[in-house]
Amino acid sequence: MNWKTCLFVVTLYLSVCTAAESRSFTIDYKNNRFLKDGAPFQYISGSIHYSRIPPYYWKDRLLKMYMTGLNAIQVYVPWNFHEAVPGVYNFAGDRDLEHFLDLANQTGLLVILRPGPYICAEWEMGGLPAWLLQKPNIILRSADTDYLQAVSNWLAVLLSKMRRWLYHNGGNIISVQVENEYGSYFACDYNYMRHLRTLFRFFLGEDMVLFTTDGNTDREMICGTLEGLYATIDFGTDTNISAAFGRQRRFEPKGPLVNSEFYTGWLDHWGDKHAAVDSQKVSRMLGEMLAMGASVNMYMFEGGTNFGYWNGADHDTRYRSVVTSYDYDAPLTEAGDPTEKLLAIRDVIRQFRDVPVGPMPPATPKLAYGFVTLQKVGNISGLLDILSPQGPVQSKYPQTFEELKQYYGFMLYRTALPRNLLEATPLISPLNGIHDRAYVSVNGVYQGLLERDTALVMNITGKQGDQLDIIVENMGRVNFGSKINDYKGILSNLILGKDVLTDWLIYTLDIDGVIANGWPQSNQGHVRPGPVREQADGPMFYTGTLKPTGLAWDTFIKLSGWTKGQVWINGVNLGRYWSKRGPQQTLYVPGPLLSTSQPNNITVLELEKAPTQTKVLFMDRPQLNATGGQA
Ligand SMILES: *[C@@H]1O[C@H](CO)[C@@H](O)[C@H](O)[C@H]1NC(C)=O
Ligand SMILES: *[C@@H]1O[C@H](CO)[C@@H](O)[C@H](O)[C@H]1NC(C)=O
Ligand SMILES: *[C@@H]1O[C@H](CO)[C@@H](O)[C@H](O)[C@H]1NC(C)=O
Ligand SMILES: *[C@@H]1O[C@H](CO)[C@@H](O)[C@H](O)[C@H]1NC(C)=O
Ligand SMILES: *[C@@H]1O[C@H](CO)[C@@H](O)[C@H](O)[C@H]1NC(C)=O
Ligand SMILES: *[C@@H]1O[C@H](CO)[C@@H](O)[C@H](O)[C@H]1NC(C)=O
Repeated sequence: MNWKTCLFVVTLYLSVCTAAESRSFTIDYKNNRFLKDGAPFQYISGSIHYSRIPPYYWKDRLLKMYMTGLNAIQVYVPWNFHEAVPGVYNFAGDRDLEHFLDLANQTGLLVILRPGPYICAEWEMGGLPAWLLQKPNIILRSADTDYLQAVSNWLAVLLSKMRRWLYHNGGNIISVQVENEYGSYFACDYNYMRHLRTLFRFFLGEDMVLFTTDGNTDREMICGTLEGLYATIDFGTDTNISAAFGRQRRFEPKGPLVNSEFYTGWLDHWGDKHAAVDSQKVSRMLGEMLAMGASVNMYMFEGGTNFGYWNGADHDTRYRSVVTSYDYDAPLTEAGDPTEKLLAIRDVIRQFRDVPVGPMPPATPKLAYGFVTLQKVGNISGLLDILSPQGPVQSKYPQTFEELKQYYGFMLYRTALPRNLLEATPLISPLNGIHDRAYVSVNGVYQGLLERDTALVMNITGKQGDQLDIIVENMGRVNFGSKINDYKGILSNLILGKDVLTDWLIYTLDIDGVIANGWPQSNQGHVRPGPVREQADGPMFYTGTLKPTGLAWDTFIKLSGWTKGQVWINGVNLGRYWSKRGPQQTLYVPGPLLSTSQPNNITVLELEKAPTQTKVLFMDRPQLNATGGQA
């Protein structure tokens, strides 16, 4: 080896070394900015939740975000999506977070990770697993020992997996949020936040940018921020930008300005007016923030869908559950289609960085498959041998979903009338203990319903010994505020006339498991057109098939004239409908769910009252803004 070769080898070695070392993401406190690989960096990011998008569409949505000119995405990790049973972790299929990160990395998008443990997100219980509630009086999001133990176990699994995805380790995660808007929570427990800081540092190292996000008030910033975690703020279009960033500055005197949630739209609750945020306001304010050098994450950029039972709820003056669509009036629609808002945002981004050349991928094709007539299968009470294979639990007093370890969906509570009720007699939930809605029948005849916060009494009639069946629906656990210990089922004794009802048979129901295994289509004996005079009110299953057309395109199912319930197609739970209350009128059906060659199996659980003509309609566009009663 001569000197020249040696020098060459040394140079090569050094340059490889420096290249590796230059992979860094840091905060430049002196110049109020981020540095990526040592160069000034401003992120223009959008929120997208893999848990709300079918995996076959992840790449499509990410590509559209990249083509808008974003250089980063912000991602929540819902703990309850991955650890349904304590100690059992699921990261497969639609829960394959690393596959999602990989797709983002391949697309050229950096990641701002928000692993919780609490995420809000209008997601069931803010992402916390409902099994935490098995400890009565647990103080969630605090230094409660059992809560901390569960958090530590979970974060050890999750954050260890994330290590190789950190930017300085060759991945795309540039920063990680600790907790989520913690300052909005009553506990204001610094010991909890310190514990989290220790865990995050232990698993992610000293080099990782860790941050917090809080609402735009002093109280929130005081309780949500902690030394060593970079304090960021979130606000929407109705906020004075300089005042908000002024507040961030008071808590973080040096470093980049960051709006971690700039609201492009807003969510809907059942019974709300449909929310929308003006596209011009969004793009104008985005431009103003970027011009100040701020890094901005748009919440949401692609909202997606609360499939199954994953919607959350709010509880301010009363319980209000979030609708199935999480379209959010975001730049990409629920079905992933680019909107005018997206194009306006792209025009703003162009003023600050190069937007990738080439066309924006188009909207996915939609198909109006038309009407399908459904047939009655039967009601829950009459199908218990199928729906509740384990049979009932006997209990003097009612037990909650959490006590019986069925966390989502529906349960049946059964007892006998203690005396003759010849006149209409009030059935009362004196402590507002129905969480969230109860469908009541006596000897197979539907009587009506009770609803949390709004209907605490109803009348029933019957004879001593008659069978009283109460089907209780969990409509989604509260995801925000001080009422997140949201137990489900019948939480306190019911009173009938003057009697406290006791001696219950409580049936856990595995409706989703049974439907995923092919019921009721696999069991045609149970499918029969109901006799004309049979009770058609109360919880009742219907089924039908959509004939294959050779095309499996996205579509939207509309249940006009139906009241409230749940829809499955080919075994997949598409979520809740509540045509009567609105505003959402159609449910998103992702095309790849449909078979091109076999009959597609539709199952509907209508909870209150089906229309005379039990038809559903597959349309080629969504209807998210209409109140009940409209056709
Ligand atoms: C992310 O993408 C970059 C560039 O394509 C690649 O070099 C790197 O290995 C990827 N990281 C991971 C963790 O896959
Ligand atoms: C916004 O806040 C700034 C500083 O806090 C104030 O000077 C300005 O008047 C406010 N603008 C509006 C439109 O209220
Ligand atoms: C919803 O529809 C109503 C009635 O047509 C209309 O007044 C309202 O502006 C719509 N809202 C949104 C957000 O589109
Ligand atoms: C439920 O089904 C059973 C058995 O088919 C029937 O006897 C009962 O009346 C039905 N109940 C209602 C509320 O329709
Ligand atoms: C129950 O019946 C009583 C007596 O008929 C009536 O006054 C009352 O309004 C009824 N309550 C409900 C909730 O229907
Ligand atoms: C619908 O159910 C039938 C009967 O169980 C089954 O043969 C068929 O494969 C199902 N269709 C799809 C698309 O899964």
